[in-house]
Amino acid sequence: MQEEAIAKVLDDSRQGEAFAPFGLDPNTYHKKFYIESYGCQMNFSDSEIVASILNEHGFGATRDSQEADLVLLNTCSIREKAEQTVRKRLTEFRKMKQAKPGLLIGILGCMAERLKSQLLEEEKLVDMVVGPDAYRSLPALIEEAETGQKTVNVLLSRDETYADISPMRLDSNGISAFVSIMRGCNNMCSFCVVPFTRGRERSRDVTSILQESRDLFEKGFKEVTLLGQNVDSYYWVEEASGTVVTFAGLLEAVARISPLLRVRFSTSHPKDITEGVLQTMARYDNICNYIHLPLQSGNTRVLQMMNRTYTREWYLAKVDRIREVLPGCGISSDMITGFCSETEEEHADTISLMEYARYDMSYMFFYSERPGTLAARRYADDIPLEVKKRRLTEIVEVQNRLSLESNRRDIGKTVQVLIEGDSKRSDREWRGRSGENKVTVFPKQAHTETQKGDYVNVLVHSCTQATLIGSIVDKG
Ligand code: SAH
Ligand code: SF4
Ligand code: F3S
Repeated sequence: MQEEAIAKVLDDSRQGEAFAPFGLDPNTYHKKFYIESYGCQMNFSDSEIVASILNEHGFGATRDSQEADLVLLNTCSIREKAEQTVRKRLTEFRKMKQAKPGLLIGILGCMAERLKSQLLEEEKLVDMVVGPDAYRSLPALIEEAETGQKTVNVLLSRDETYADISPMRLDSNGISAFVSIMRGCNNMCSFCVVPFTRGRERSRDVTSILQESRDLFEKGFKEVTLLGQNVDSYYWVEEASGTVVTFAGLLEAVARISPLLRVRFSTSHPKDITEGVLQTMARYDNICNYIHLPLQSGNTRVLQMMNRTYTREWYLAKVDRIREVLPGCGISSDMITGFCSETEEEHADTISLMEYARYDMSYMFFYSERPGTLAARRYADDIPLEVKKRRLTEIVEVQNRLSLESNRRDIGKTVQVLIEGDSKRSDREWRGRSGENKVTVFPKQAHTETQKGDYVNVLVHSCTQATLIGSIVDKG
């Protein structure tokens, strides 16, 4: 999952929304917290859990950091730049704290977990450092911090899933929501810090996932995205019956809540996505035809060094199978350029695989060494920065072309779109996404009464690289 991706999703869902999650009036609380989230969808989803825990303990949420008694930054460590962004933001809060000495500042999430109490030494103004599995202890830590104590809780857990906590939807568009189905990651991709910051993989109780998804649907939400670092390894054994629930089973159960509830998921590790998942997707119209299938590199030697456990050929076969079972399925990817010892030929293999897979969209990064990871311990970070960046520019250009080609192939087709809100450009246009996850904009038409949350069939007549442009044919 990608920090940029989430920034985009949030940005889009923020349009024109007042901040009043489910009618809670922040002014009824005597203390207010302000939370800012960085990183992947999991982090944004965690912030909603944090908000719910704080709410229970008498804190109201505010969107204005100036009026907050408590400022929380839910941080990301995935690349060095992600950490730098947070450090920069902290210098701004330092100024705020000078003007308001009682203000408490807490660092949550992956940076808290990675740096632990070292963060308190480095960032003198920080009062609390709280890791991703320790959010239940926040109210107690805040109480302690209010007495002037610096507090840290970065214990990772083997079973915490916050299953019983109903997330307070922050910045919601009221239409689409994320539902966390598991935490942690047991894969050891050599470049990745997540197993260290998020701990062991554990799945959330199926009943609570279904309950949360049903609740969302009853509240008017029309789309849930099931979230995990590696959703295909979801595994739950029902205590009473001993029944095993796999990801395919979970997907089906969520899809059966209502045909009017769209189901998405993220992220799939190519080694784990099963035939059963593809077949389940094929059986249910409301499971969106879209798979995020991060490649990382198109070269087998590099993939091996990355510890991705699949080869180029294996990945290609997976793409073929997806296209066979789910014709027209949207596929997106993540790529890293300039991983340790990557040659020009190996980089060219990534480009040729991108061309073969015809990705609709990709999140692309240059390699950023993370302390403590397998790659940092085993391999030299030996590709010069300018080479990493040049290779990145090259794959970005390839992807831009592939995205445009993919959108052009949709011209003349009718796609089903869930209306998420006004388009960025004009309140006379709707914006939504097709099942294949393509952003689609189209005029609101006087003769078809439509509103946010409606499904409409849209005839695509033009496009940009990022957007399909069309007009409503009828209600979907
Ligand atoms: N669990 C998800 C990915 C989480 S991180 C998965 O396995 O697909 C999101 C993306 O960040 C990764 O897919 C990878 O492309 C990128 N990434 C992770 N660590 C990185 C690093 N050290 N340098 C550059 N990019 C990295
Ligand atoms: Fe990181 Fe790999 Fe786990 Fe994804 S699957 S979170 S890239 S270790
Ligand atoms: Fe997500 Fe960043 Fe942590 S990508 S899991 S918030 S390191």
